[in-house]
Order: sequence, then C-alpha cells, then structure tokens
Amino acid sequence: MELKKEVLKLMLKNRRINSGFQYTVPSPDTYPYQWLWDSCFNAIILSFLNLEDAKKELISLISFQFENGMIPHIIYWDKGTPTDFPKIEWGKEDTSSITQPPLLSYAVWKIYQKDEDKGFLKLIYQNLVRFYNFLFNDRAYDETRLLGIVNPDESGEDNSPRFDEPLGLPPKQTLEESLERRLQLVAEDLACDFETQTCISNFFFVKDVPFNAIMVEDLSCMIKIAKALGNKKDVKLFEWERRQIISGMRKWMLEEGVFWSVYGLHHKKIKLKSWAIFAPLFAGIYAPKEAEKVVERYLLNKKFFNTRFLIPTISKDEPSFDTKGFWRGPVWIAVNYFIFKGLLRYKMDDLAKQVAQATLGLLKKNGFREYFNPLTGRGMGAKDFTWGGLILDMV
Ligand code: GLC
Repeated sequence: MELKKEVLKLMLKNRRINSGFQYTVPSPDTYPYQWLWDSCFNAIILSFLNLEDAKKELISLISFQFENGMIPHIIYWDKGTPTDFPKIEWGKEDTSSITQPPLLSYAVWKIYQKDEDKGFLKLIYQNLVRFYNFLFNDRAYDETRLLGIVNPDESGEDNSPRFDEPLGLPPKQTLEESLERRLQLVAEDLACDFETQTCISNFFFVKDVPFNAIMVEDLSCMIKIAKALGNKKDVKLFEWERRQIISGMRKWMLEEGVFWSVYGLHHKKIKLKSWAIFAPLFAGIYAPKEAEKVVERYLLNKKFFNTRFLIPTISKDEPSFDTKGFWRGPVWIAVNYFIFKGLLRYKMDDLAKQVAQATLGLLKKNGFREYFNPLTGRGMGAKDFTWGGLILDMV
C-alpha cells in the first residue's frame, strides 16, 4: 500500500496538462517533455492507479502522430520548460523526427485487460494500425524482414555500446562524442527528406534485438486487440508480420544460442553482450531450452551479468562496461521489467522474484532515480524518474 502511495505521488508530481491533453514527464528537471516509450511505461504504471489517467496518457501520445503513421519519440508541448539536460533538436518543430520502441499496443492491452472497455480500443485502434503498419512497411523492407532503427536513440538506449561499431566510435568515449554522431544522423535524415529505404539507411540502420522483440510482443497484443474488435483480416495480417519478424530474427540474428543485433548491407552481427540478449525472453522468442541456456550462461554468471545489484545493461567483461556510463553498464528499471516479464513467461519464477526484489531494494534505498550503479547500487541521473513505478507490475 505504501509503495502504491509513493508511486502515485511521483506520477502526480510529474503530471502535466497541456492544450487539453494529459501526460506524464519522465522527470520534471531533466526530461520535461513527453517521450514515447516512457508514456507507455507510464500508462502501465497508471493502470494500477487510475485507468482513465492511463488512457489519457496514451491519447496524448498519439495526438502528434505523423501522416505516415510514425509516432515521434518526443512531443515538446511546452518548449519553454527549463531543463538541466542539454536541449537537443531532433529535426522538427513540435516533436522529434525519430521514433522509439513501440510498446504502445502492449500498454493498451494491459489497460483493456483491466476494464474491457471496447470504446477505448475502438478510439485508439486506427492509430495503432497506422503506427505498426508504418514500422513494418518503412523499416522492415529488406530480405531479413527485420525492423531497422535509424538512430541509436530510437532504441531508447541512446549511448548503448551496441551502437559503437555502426557509429564508428571506440568502447571508451565521451557523451559529447556520441551526441555529435547522433545529431549528425538527424542532419542526414533531414537532408534525406526522411526517406528511409533509399537514403537514411545508408548512414545508420541497425536491426536491434530489443526493438524487434518488443515489436513481436506488440504484434501479439495487436492480434488480441483485433480479435477483441472482431477484425479477422487484421488478425491474419498481424500474425503474418509477427511470423516474418520471428523467422527473420532466427535466421539473421541467432548464433550460438544468442540473438545479436545486426547492421549494414551484409547484416553483420554486433557481438557485444548487453541485456539485449535477454530481450527475446519478453516476447517468448527463445525456445524453452534456449532460454534456459542463455539465462544460465549469461544472466546467472558472475563474470557477465550477475553483479551485486541486478541487472547491469552491459556485461561486466565488455571493454565498454562502465558502472556510471549512460546505458553502458548501470541498471535501468525498464530493463529489469522486460527481463522480469520474460523470466515469468518461461516459468523461471524464483529468478523473476529475485529480479523484482533487487529492483525494489534499489528503489527503496535510492528513490526514483534514472539508473543505478550495478556494483554499489548508488542511484544516478535524473531524479523523480517515473520508470521506478513499474515496480507496481513486478511485486
Ligand atoms: C533518455 C533515455 C530514454 C528515455 C528518455 C526520457 O534519453 O535514454 O530511453 O526515453 O531519457 O526518459
């Protein structure tokens, strides 16, 4: 009960109402706008507090959907809001010009399961269809049938070392070096007039494991949503797209029992051990035996991911591992959430419980911080960061 109250206090502190829309900022000082996957996390959190607020969060998120169906990763709403984080221009006026992991239908389905409000499904359905069609058509166009991202920030893991090789950056780098390269990509997107297939993809096009795994889970939710609405044609289409991505992942990403992100014309594997190797658990993509192996070999191994405070985003033995680096080692609650859900899916309940308890421990000791040192547990980054509220869906 106490926990629920704490989370509610946080969500209310971060709530904003603008032009008749209601949304939640990830952190008042550091991230004072609306972000795509954050709003999906927020909607999941709010579904434990007030379903109408959860719905409003998603309605505001789709209100800036582009004509081509894309949903931008940031909506500025109020550009005058002060921030202690460098303000980044992402290629457009009111929003950014790139997207983020598409957790939207997952959040919608979570809400629907609680009140079976078909009116809400109907209200948001066409926006969902347009978004997933955009992703599949604009991003999964080559023989792999995998979705590509055009900027590291589309993964939600802005500085992850998974992107060092495609960006041409060394394992040890400054935040400025990384940001400069990512912004250069935005300039290239503009020069390409946002044409992905023939232009943007020449500069950066990574088929990232978590983005594709999340899409697979989203398509499972779209299938359930389309069924609930009695739309048989869409059910068939989403089933087909889901199968395409799963078989693409198995064919192009899987090697020695692990899914690796791929990039470039020849779909080169990026064999860097990050939490991404566990992301397919979330969508049930590993076969049960494969899941056991990847967990045993990597998650439980003290050389790799089994650190004192669970779960580091990067394996301890990677040259890029940095206990304080942004997405380069620290624990992030959303990652724990994805892995927690994945472990439950494979009936590894004890381990899932351990992850949930570790997450709760970090939050109790440090409050709602953005990320945590995996060796000392110290909280870092933004304060009053909403992702910690996901604990409501873990305990
Ligand atoms: C940072 C994170 C990203 C998140 C954003 C807002 O950029 O890397 O995942 O969406 O902050 O919280």
